[in-house]
Amino acid sequence: MTEDAFISIRKVDKHFGKVQAIDSVSIEIGHGEFFSLLGSSGCGKTTLLRMLAGFEAPTGGEIFIDGQPMSDVPPHMRPVNMVFQNYAIFPHLNVRDNIAYGLRKQRLSRNRRHDLVEEMLELIKLPGFGDRRANELSGGQRQRIALARALILRPKVLLLDEPLGALDKQLREQMQLELRALQRTVGITFVFVTHDQEEALTLSDRIAVMSQGRVLQLDTPSGLYETPHNREVASFIGTMNFFDAKVSGVNGARVEVEAAGLGRINAPARDRRYVEGESVQIAIRPEKLELTADAPLDSGISVQGSLENAAYLGERSHFFVKLDGLDQPVAVSAQNREGATIGTDATGPVWLNWSEASVVVLTSD
Ligand SMILES: Nc1ncnc2c1ncn2[C@@H]1O[C@H](COP(=O)(O)OP(=O)(O)O)[C@@H](O)[C@H]1O
Ligand SMILES: [Mg+2]
Repeated sequence: MTEDAFISIRKVDKHFGKVQAIDSVSIEIGHGEFFSLLGSSGCGKTTLLRMLAGFEAPTGGEIFIDGQPMSDVPPHMRPVNMVFQNYAIFPHLNVRDNIAYGLRKQRLSRNRRHDLVEEMLELIKLPGFGDRRANELSGGQRQRIALARALILRPKVLLLDEPLGALDKQLREQMQLELRALQRTVGITFVFVTHDQEEALTLSDRIAVMSQGRVLQLDTPSGLYETPHNREVASFIGTMNFFDAKVSGVNGARVEVEAAGLGRINAPARDRRYVEGESVQIAIRPEKLELTADAPLDSGISVQGSLENAAYLGERSHFFVKLDGLDQPVAVSAQNREGATIGTDATGPVWLNWSEASVVVLTSD
């Protein structure tokens, strides 16, 4: 384990009868990190979060928080607090009493309690809202109250289970920015659960992409996007073009492959070992491809194809290019700038260009 891991999840399993919800997961989370668990419904995100909170016990493995093993520590003794999707605030209490709810067992003076609540109302940008009733609040405001109620207890870790899931898109995007800023301000470690890849990319320092109870890749947002390790991660995050390929040469930092539709091309090896003849897949993002009407000067990193159709989407356009030897057309995404050489009404022969650095080699692990 690294020296500064604040949360250490070590080879944790969780079985519910015959269902294995978590399968040997190991994750280390740093102090003050905004960490996300990302994956589709049923992959085990909530189960992992509930084990951090102490609502579920691991079937195997161990969880450490702040250097302490958690196996014998009940939920209320853990330095964590949890925020849920369905903002768990009391409809019959006003905002002040909702936020102060967790403080009721602490012996604080009226004034001290009042000051703490006011501090929280400032933090969540709702000053003066103390006397409002819960049913006089919008969805976004309620969720901020739920955050304040969790944060007033000064937990070392805040666990958030799809807290923005019930909000509409515009409000959700605004709350994402606020949540990120709030986390920076309070400096508390956040473990955030979402099935929304854009949300995870926007918010997180690092993300664990999960599937069927396992971690597929643990990386920074740009690491996941730019260098996914396998096809599942590559297709879960953003849009990707895939090409079947075989390794035809290994040369230190680069690997040469024979790829369907693209021919013999080079890609960065990125510290992986490849064997000649090995089957791999090549992946290239649509926005890393460029279309030109004429053949480029450097012929090693381009291929000729035929423009099948295109869609104008305002700030960008999508093009679909048929290549010899491929059933699926290749997707190209281009920003709509003044003077673009190829418009969405064009058809016929085009050149597809890319840079070696944008080629990702996926393995089948
Ligand atoms: N209390 C439970 N009893 C039985 N199965 C459960 C229980 N909680 C979760 N599961 C199962 O564990 C798996 C992971 O669930 P969950 O952690 O809720 O996924 P997610 O939050 O990623 O949608 C699912 O197959 C789910 O049906
Ligand atoms: Mg869940």
